[in-house]
Amino acid sequence: MAKPVSVLRMIGSLRRTVECWRAADARIALVPTMGALHAGHVALISSARRRAKRIVVSIFVNPAQFAADEDLATYPRTWDADLELLRKLGADAVWTPSVERMYPAGFATRVLPGGAATVGLEDRFRPHFFTGVATVVAKLLIQCAPDFAMFGEKDYQQLRVVEQITRDLDVPTRIIAVPTVREKDGLALSSRNLYLSTSERERAPLLHRVLKECARKIAKGAQLESVLGEAAAAIQNGGFALDYLEARHAKTLQPITSHAQGPIRLLVAARLGKTRLIDNVGV
Ligand code: PAJ
Repeated sequence: MAKPVSVLRMIGSLRRTVECWRAADARIALVPTMGALHAGHVALISSARRRAKRIVVSIFVNPAQFAADEDLATYPRTWDADLELLRKLGADAVWTPSVERMYPAGFATRVLPGGAATVGLEDRFRPHFFTGVATVVAKLLIQCAPDFAMFGEKDYQQLRVVEQITRDLDVPTRIIAVPTVREKDGLALSSRNLYLSTSERERAPLLHRVLKECARKIAKGAQLESVLGEAAAAIQNGGFALDYLEARHAKTLQPITSHAQGPIRLLVAARLGKTRLIDNVGV
């Protein structure tokens, strides 16, 4: 029978649990999430399992990373199913503080990331987002003090921002990047895919198909600008409102204009009805 998962809601109980594991010399991995767990999150937990004896999964829908007009109120919350899944996967603890515990009255500190957080991709369309992410991730890393923390390549700019802040703030946790998990038709798994209507769900895989096709052409030597121009048109003709489709340096996320300046990462964000989808691939 699967062992029970400790549900921790108070910082004191989290600290005691982690100290106890440390005293037994166990390596600890943290998997930060906002819940509504899917196979992408499961891949992060499997990666944690390969590296650490003890796994903490945090489930916290972080208000600080949502703008007032975004989907905080409707963000999917599937607590019972999440807990059952974590039990089956053998996670040791779920860290799930209330908003009032994470941000108590008088809370007044923000982590304002630069570098990867200001390259003009997600930050251009969601200016509040990375300060919210950086603040909560810094708090989670301090609270859990893990040896490893797992982040998905699905949120590629977020991954680079987390690497940036841990490096800049001397956080002694190793950030592990986990490849994107996709549906059979190529759509990257996301908690927000639940918002797609049946017909939107049928159209959604176009985004990844176009990215892959772009990557193939660029790898064969085609000119970046023309490939991206055609791809942007294909995405718009597929019924998406395009926020951006760009070729960036895979490590720095700085703009590049030719293959020679790579390694290249292609990143896209587009809206299908009310749902905003992001994706990326390497070249
Ligand atoms: P959330 O969207 O729940 O994602 C939690 C982690 O799962 C992130 O590192 C994300 O990149 C990863 N992930 C999501 N979909 C994935 C997929 N299809 N394949 C692989 N990994 C995937 O990202 C957040 O939450 C929040 O911003 C958080 C980091 C928890 C801070 O609040």
